Amino acid sequence: MKKNIKLYYLVITFLLVTADSVSAQQVKEITVIADNPVADIQPTMWGVFFEDINFAADGGIYAELVKNRSFEFSMPLMGWKTTREKGEGRLLPTFYSPSNPSNPRYLEIAVDAANGAFGITNEGFRGMGVKQGETYNFSIFASARSGSDLIMTIELINPKGEIIGSAEIKGFNYDWKIYRASFKSPVTEPKAQLKVMLRGKGSIGVDMISLFPSDTWKGRLGGLRKDIAQLIADLEPGFVRFPGGCIVEGRDLTNRYQWKTTVGPIDQRRMIINRWNMEMRDRLAPDYFQSFGLGFFEYFLFSEDIGAEPLPILNCGMSCQFNAGEVVPLNELDPYIQDALDLIEFANGPVTSAWGKLRSSMGHPEPFNLKYVGVGNEQWDEQYIERYREFEKVLKAKHPEIKIVSGSGPSASGRLFDYAWAEMKKLSPDLIDEHYYMQPDWFLKNAARYDNYDRKGPKVFAGEYAAHWKEGKDAESRNTWYSALTEAAFMTGLERNADIVHMASYAPLLAHVEAWQWRPDLIWFDNLTSIGTPNYYVQKMFSTHRGTSVISLTAAGKPLTGQDSIYASGTLDKTAGRVYLKIVNVSAKPKTINISIEGSSAGKEAVVETLKSGNKGDYNTIGNPKVIYPSSKTIQISGKKMKIDLEGISANTIILTLKK
Ligand code: AHR
Repeated sequence: MKKNIKLYYLVITFLLVTADSVSAQQVKEITVIADNPVADIQPTMWGVFFEDINFAADGGIYAELVKNRSFEFSMPLMGWKTTREKGEGRLLPTFYSPSNPSNPRYLEIAVDAANGAFGITNEGFRGMGVKQGETYNFSIFASARSGSDLIMTIELINPKGEIIGSAEIKGFNYDWKIYRASFKSPVTEPKAQLKVMLRGKGSIGVDMISLFPSDTWKGRLGGLRKDIAQLIADLEPGFVRFPGGCIVEGRDLTNRYQWKTTVGPIDQRRMIINRWNMEMRDRLAPDYFQSFGLGFFEYFLFSEDIGAEPLPILNCGMSCQFNAGEVVPLNELDPYIQDALDLIEFANGPVTSAWGKLRSSMGHPEPFNLKYVGVGNEQWDEQYIERYREFEKVLKAKHPEIKIVSGSGPSASGRLFDYAWAEMKKLSPDLIDEHYYMQPDWFLKNAARYDNYDRKGPKVFAGEYAAHWKEGKDAESRNTWYSALTEAAFMTGLERNADIVHMASYAPLLAHVEAWQWRPDLIWFDNLTSIGTPNYYVQKMFSTHRGTSVISLTAAGKPLTGQDSIYASGTLDKTAGRVYLKIVNVSAKPKTINISIEGSSAGKEAVVETLKSGNKGDYNTIGNPKVIYPSSKTIQISGKKMKIDLEGISANTIILTLKK
C-alpha cells in the first residue's frame, strides 16, 4: 500500500508540474504599446507577383477572347477550324512575310459561296466567356486579294451552334486595313466560339483577328479583364512584380522574356511559346503561347492604375537552371545589360530619348517613375553572382537612383542560399529575393525567421512564397484554409521585422481552373468569374491594414511567435490614427485573451475582422467562393483594456481608432 501511495503522489506531482508549465505558456494577456513605433513599414511591404503561368495573361487577365489571333503559334491553325455552310472555299497555305519579322504570318481564304458561307471558327481559351448585355468589339486586319465584294459575317455561337451575337463587315480594299464591328451578347455563355464567315466570290488575306469585351478595366480598348484586375487592385498592393518567375529566364535563352518585343503596336509584338506549356508532364498545354498583348507598357500602366511600384525582373544572361541552364559568356553580356538601361529609359526617360519617345507614342508621355529593377529571377551559384556583378557595376554607376533586387535561388536555406547571401553581402544589391514553397509546418516554425537577420546587410524581398499542403480534385483544392492560416502566422513575423523585410509577395497570383500548371495560386478564375482563395483574404488582411510603423506587441515580455499556438504582430497607421493587431490562433481550441493598450488611448469600440473555417482542409471554389471569407464584429474597450475571444484556427485583425 505504502508503495501505491508513493506512486500516487508521484503522479499527482507530475500532473501538477506539467499543468503548471502549460499554463505558464498559455497566452492570457497581450500588451500593445501603441505610441512607440519601433520600425517603419515600407509602402512596398505587401505586393503581388505576376507571372504568365496557368493562363494568367492570354486567356486570363488580358481580355482578348481569340486564341492564336495572328496565326503565329507553331501550328498556324491551332485553335481554328475550317467551317463550311453550303459554301465552297479553301485556306491557302499560310503566308509568311519576311518583311514583317514580328508578325510574319497571315492567312488567305479563297471563297466561292454565293448562297452559302465559308470561313473559320476560333475556339477561344477553353471557350470564350461572354456576358448578357455586354458589348463585344471585333477587329480584323484584312486585304481583299481578289474580288472586293466579299461579305464577312462575324458570329458568336454557343456550344449548340446557336448564334448569340453577330455583325457584318463589307467593302474590303486591296490595301491591308483594320476593320471593326461590335455587337451585344443577349446571353451569358462561358463556352462561346467565334465564327468568321465569308459570302461571295474572291479571296481575302486576314490577320490579327480579335474580340474583346468593351467593358474592360478602366474601359481601355483591348484592355484587361475587369473582374480579375479589380480583385488584384482590391489588395492595394505596394508593388507589382512582373513578368515572373521562370518565364523571365525561359526554358532556354531563345524563349526568355525580352521586354523590347512586348512594347509598341500590338501587331508588332513577336509571339513566342510560353515556357509553362510543356513544363508539367501531367498538365501539358501545347496551346500556351505569349501574344504579349499584355506587355511591359501594360504592366507599368496597371501598376500605376493601382498605385503600386512597378518591379520588373530582367533576364541576367541565364536561362532556367532547372531546364536548359544556358549561360551567356561574360564577354557577351552587354546586350542584356543594355536591355536594363533601355528599360529604365523606357520607363523614366524624357520623351526626347529614344525609348522615352516610344513610351510617349504609346500614350504615356509622363514617366512611370520606375524605382526598382530585379536582376535575374531564381538563379544560383557562381555563374549568377558573376553576371549579377556586371549588371550592378553598370546600373549603380549610371542609375544610382534605382534600387536593385538580386536573388538567393530556389531554396529558403542550404548551401546555395547561404552562398548567395554571403556573396551578395560583398556586393551592393538593395534587396535580396527569397523563395519558399514549403509545408505549412515550415511557415509556423519560421515565424521568427527574420528576428535575428543581420540588420546591416541588404533588405529582404520575400518574393515568392506559399504553403503547399494537401490537394484534391477541384482545381482550387490546394488553397486550403490551413495553408492560408499558416501563411498568416508567418506573415506576422514578416511584419514584425519590417525594418529588414521591405517587400513580400505570395506566388503565383492567377490560375485558370481549366488550364493551370501550378497550384496553389492566389486567385482562381474561369471564363466568366474570378474568386479570392483563403490565401487571398490573408494577403488582403495584411495589405489593407498595413500601417506605417511596427509597434510592440508582446505576451510575458516576448513577441508572439507560436506560444500557446498564437502568432501576432501590431502596426500603427500614423496618418489614419489607427492601430492594427493581427492575431492568429492555429490551434483548434478557442482562446480568450485580454489586451492592454499602452501609450495612446483608443475609442470605446474596436472592430475585429476574422477569417476562419471549421476544417483545416476547407477551400473556396468558383461555385462556392465564400467558404472562407472575412466577417466582422465590434468589441468593447474598457479604459485601456479589451477582451477578445479567438475562435479555433482563425486569423484576426483588430482595428483600433486612436483618440486624437
Ligand atoms: O511561381 C512559380 C515558379 O516558382 C516561378 O516561376 C519560379 O520563380 C519559382 O520556381
